[in-house]
Amino acid sequence: MNLKGQVVLLTGASRGIGLALAQSLAGRGAKLHLVSRRFAPEMKADLEQRGAESVRLWEKDLSIMSQADELARALEGESIDVLINNAGLLTGGLLEEQDPDAIDQMLMVNVHAVIRLTRKLLPHMLARRSGKIVNNASVSGKMFFPCASTYAASKAAVVAFTESLKQELRGTGVSTLLLITPGVKTAMYDEIQDLYGGHLDLSFMNSIPAEEWAERVVRAIEDDEDTLWPTGSSHLGVKFAHHLPALFERVVRPKFKRS
Ligand SMILES: NC(=O)c1ccc[n+]([C@@H]2O[C@H](COP(=O)([O-])OP(=O)(O)OC[C@H]3O[C@@H](n4cnc5c(N)ncnc54)[C@H](OP(=O)(O)O)[C@@H]3O)[C@@H](O)[C@H]2O)c1
Repeated sequence: MNLKGQVVLLTGASRGIGLALAQSLAGRGAKLHLVSRRFAPEMKADLEQRGAESVRLWEKDLSIMSQADELARALEGESIDVLINNAGLLTGGLLEEQDPDAIDQMLMVNVHAVIRLTRKLLPHMLARRSGKIVNNASVSGKMFFPCASTYAASKAAVVAFTESLKQELRGTGVSTLLLITPGVKTAMYDEIQDLYGGHLDLSFMNSIPAEEWAERVVRAIEDDEDTLWPTGSSHLGVKFAHHLPALFERVVRPKFKRS
């Protein structure tokens, strides 16, 4: 897909991976609809200067389903070519110590809003027999660490949703791209230490710059890939956890302490 002039709806675009994606897509000359609860005042002008054909900012809270619905309704006439469900929240720590309201809010953004927006925009893509749905999951949706129970559940849901939808859409002209995102240096990545670090030795973790991951995502959209895997030790970790779960658990066990 040549992204020049393509209409892209990208959630979670105010910072981190989403901001890097918006910048990369602007450089390709895409027309951008960007969603977050808040945007920096200079965002639109900066992206236009980088080459975006147009930029529209939508300040919506995707943990509130009526706001996700409003957004989808407002965009009905816009012929969205690419939907990138990137907005996300992190939860973590021992389950009984996690704030139940924070868990619910995270599930709303990471899972419900993804399904809701996709379901609302899909019929328009199907009618045009063209479109790409990109869902940002995580290595956490494939390999399961202690302290990550609720977040991992949300990302495993994104993996299952996207894998199932991929099969449903075969032959329709609409396709999916599942992102098995590794550690990426963002505000969320920095939160991991606070949320997990009290119980889990995180010295094995590593991260790549947001710009590097965003560039790989944009190339995967252009090449119409269906899954984007991490490289190096993150890729090995995902494969190890998937194929040898009992051994993976034994390796992780000494890194975890309840007290
Ligand atoms: N960083 C990593 O290591 C990593 C690894 C694997 C997967 N991921 C996934 O990658 C995606 C982006 O993460 P990131 O690291 O870039 O995180 P980030 O820097 O914390 O950015 C999260 C983005 O989501 C938006 N967002 C959060 N809650 C929202 C809500 N209720 N309504 C609308 N927008 C909301 C935020 O904007 P506002 O706060 O302005 O609303 C922000 O733009 C997430 O889905 C995350 O789970 C990240």
